[in-house]
Amino acid sequence: MHEQITLTVNGETHTLTVPVHRTLLEVLREQLMLTGTKHGCELGECGACTVLIDGVPTLACLTLPIEVQGRAITTIEGLERDGQLHPLQITFAELGAAQCGYCTPGVLISGAALLAHDPHPALETIKAALAGNLCRCTGYTKIYEAVQAASERSLEA
Ligand code: FES
Ligand code: FES
Repeated sequence: MHEQITLTVNGETHTLTVPVHRTLLEVLREQLMLTGTKHGCELGECGACTVLIDGVPTLACLTLPIEVQGRAITTIEGLERDGQLHPLQITFAELGAAQCGYCTPGVLISGAALLAHDPHPALETIKAALAGNLCRCTGYTKIYEAVQAASERSLEA
C-alpha cells in the first residue's frame, strides 16, 4: 500500500509516492538521495539518523513521513547557508572531531539545534544536548571542544 505525500526538505518541496510503512529516514535516503543522514540502529538508540523538524532534533528512523508533512525538515545537506558552512562544520574539521564520520551528521544536527537556542552553552549543556548521539570513535572530548569552538566562533562573527 502506498500514499502520496508532500515534504519540505531543506527548503525544497517534494511530492512523493511512498510505501506506507517507509520511515522518514528511508524516504530521505532512498527516494530523495539525501544520504548524509545515516542509517544506524533503526531503534531510536544511536542518533545517526537525526534531522531537524521545525528546528527540533528528531530521529528519522522513528518518524513516518506523513507525520511531518507541512513541517520544515532539515538534513545535514541543508545545514550550510548561502554556500557557507555552518560554524560547527568548520570547527569539526579543524579540530578533528570526526573520525569515521558515521555519527557526525547527527551530531552536527543536534549541535546546530543547541547553538540556535543557546549560542554559548556550558559544557554540561552541550553534553546533555548530544546525549542521544552515540560515537564509537572519538571519546566525545573532541566533539564537545568543537561545539565550544563553534560557539566562540559565532561570538566573534
Ligand atoms: S538509526 Fe535512528 S536512532 Fe539509530
Ligand atoms: S566518528 Fe566514528 S562513530 Fe563518531
